[in-house]
Amino acid sequence: MRDTPLDTAPAVARAVAILRRGGLVAFPTETVYGLGADAGNEAAVRRIFAVKQRPVDHPVIVHIPDASHLPRWAARVPEAAARLAAAFWPGPLTLVLERAAGVLDAVTGGQDSVGVRVPYHPLALDLLHAFGGGLAAPSANLFGCLSPTSAEHVLAELGDQVDLVLDGGACRVGIESTIVEVNGSQPRLLRPGGIGLAAMEAVVGSAILLAGSDAPRAPGRLASHYAPRTAMTLVEPGQLAAAVQAAVQAGRRPAVFSRHPLPPSPAVVAVRAPSSAAEYARVLYRTLRRLDDVGADLLLVEAVPDAPDWLAVRDRLARAASHDLGDDEP
Ligand code: TXA
Ligand code: MG
Repeated sequence: MRDTPLDTAPAVARAVAILRRGGLVAFPTETVYGLGADAGNEAAVRRIFAVKQRPVDHPVIVHIPDASHLPRWAARVPEAAARLAAAFWPGPLTLVLERAAGVLDAVTGGQDSVGVRVPYHPLALDLLHAFGGGLAAPSANLFGCLSPTSAEHVLAELGDQVDLVLDGGACRVGIESTIVEVNGSQPRLLRPGGIGLAAMEAVVGSAILLAGSDAPRAPGRLASHYAPRTAMTLVEPGQLAAAVQAAVQAGRRPAVFSRHPLPPSPAVVAVRAPSSAAEYARVLYRTLRRLDDVGADLLLVEAVPDAPDWLAVRDRLARAASHDLGDDEP
């Protein structure tokens, strides 16, 4: 009898067989679940876009087993990128680098760069080592919707359009990887995530720029993205109780996600949010999914601190709440 966790080897072997013949396998990472395909198989990569209903000119991240696979995907690995990889891989960091010859346009969205990362999850690493190559994998959700942080979420959203879903439990980080472009003279942050800016700057030894409007295409940077179905509004802490009351008085059915307690009310579904940024990120998407299903017609979320460790959470909340903005929609 085994006293180790479930033997995942048969599932990994099945997944590899499916990937080799061009199929799609959803797999867990420490950030969110990915929808994986052989990054060297154009038809397989195109299937990802069809299943996600994602515009074809958006690039996907290539997941590799370890940094020794970089030369297959990146033409150059600048010193800053090598340092970041050594410090944070495996982990929630994607490096955008100059693409190597032979990397498919379907993967890069036709750009001259490619996003690469080594995820930190035992099942993802087992899969990548057994596959022995790169897996193109965006988050395993429909375009614009919340990323899945459990196998059940993948099944609920993509169901039988995926050939196999590997179940690795709930994701530990809960929001998508930090994306840093290391192409030009100075690294640029394209998407905040699990790895903080200060930690990366310490490793690189210089400032990391914040991407402006000239940044390359990245759907994670669209104003409306990572969004629940229910209309969501961010409310400053001091105004939350009044906003809830006003909504109820107007005949609305609000659901609330807040770090501070509210006076209990039978008309309101309220979920308390964690007080640390890391824990908040871990539960964010699964809580928004849950609140999407409680029959509310308005989601009121208490704004979080404007502090460095909340950068990634603030970014995702702003996008989840920006259904009506659409200022940099495709
Ligand atoms: O944590 C994550 O990054 C998850 C897991 C599955 O690894 N993946 C993920 O993938 O969030 P996706 O496709 O949902 O978002 C990846 C982001 C997109 O905004 C994409 O445009 C950007 O990475 N990206 C990929 N390659 C890029 C490139 N060459 N230049 C700029 N952005 C790129
Ligand atoms: Mg995504």
